[in-house]
Amino acid sequence: MEKIILDCDPGHDDAIAILLAAGNPNIDLLGITTVSGNHNVENTTRNALATCTAYGIKVPVAKGSPGPMIADQVLAVEIHGETGLDGPVLPPASFDLDPRHAVDFIIDTVMAHEPGTVTLVPVGPYTNIGLAVRKEPRIVERVKKVVAMGGAYTRGNITPAAEFNVYADAEAADVVFRAGWDVTMVGLDLTHQALATPDLQDRVRAVGGDIAQFILDIWTFIDTTHGGLLQIPYPAVHDACCVAAMIDPTVFTTEKADIRVETAGRWTKGMTVCNFEKMGGMRHFGGTAMEQTNFRHTVAMTLDQQKFCDLIVDALERLTRR
Ligand code: BDR
Ligand code: CA
Repeated sequence: MEKIILDCDPGHDDAIAILLAAGNPNIDLLGITTVSGNHNVENTTRNALATCTAYGIKVPVAKGSPGPMIADQVLAVEIHGETGLDGPVLPPASFDLDPRHAVDFIIDTVMAHEPGTVTLVPVGPYTNIGLAVRKEPRIVERVKKVVAMGGAYTRGNITPAAEFNVYADAEAADVVFRAGWDVTMVGLDLTHQALATPDLQDRVRAVGGDIAQFILDIWTFIDTTHGGLLQIPYPAVHDACCVAAMIDPTVFTTEKADIRVETAGRWTKGMTVCNFEKMGGMRHFGGTAMEQTNFRHTVAMTLDQQKFCDLIVDALERLTRR
């Protein structure tokens, strides 16, 4: 059983990540923390609570950072709409937030568990995780690993160079990638292979029920914003890929790399510069010994689409039955 904290900004694909984590018996969802990203933190928190309320997901939800560590706020309203989760209709949230700030929830939870047992799964901008590292650096040694949606090694989606989660708080991403832990970067190169194809949508429709309808409504809305903007044929189910990897690490292949975040580039802010070990790996970043390469990061490469779809459908069936 893998213990995870899901740090998210629901967000359409974030909501599917919540469902996958709650619906798989191999995941122990210790809590959900929220951050501003797809929309402001009031809306992302409400969307997390409403999703949990609607589908009987009883885990702590802690509200987090209202904006990036340093940068001005960037929201993804053009993708996720005016509520952050436009399209599906959810009931009002009917349970209380955890009283702690997300940063304190993350620190308390990691420090309360045995070393090497809790994985952080950030799928929004990494503000909460960066602040947690700054406030309690011992979490870096203590966590098992970080499996993060964000970045890319070939492309961006908010700029030609940068993916949204990293761009929206590049300084926080820099803190996260420079900390000494193993970060698995589940970037656009991978998540653009995780598409809600007609076949997956048919399988979800065949399960039937409210949760299936919720997922279908998510994809119907995202199809009107995401597909056109990103020139991919179907909605990408980005954030659920991280949870899928926690359930079954063979859902995608990986390569080792050293990843640095560009925080100051004129055209490249938020770019994740990947120095791949298998490609011979440059010994130094920037050419100084101080910037010696360390291939401790992991990059998600090729998705097993069948396994990924099976995990989504399996979680949906379990949630629908219970
Ligand atoms: C990421 O940005 C958000 O819009 C999605 O929820 C995902 O986490 C993709 O770039
Ligand atoms: Ca997200």
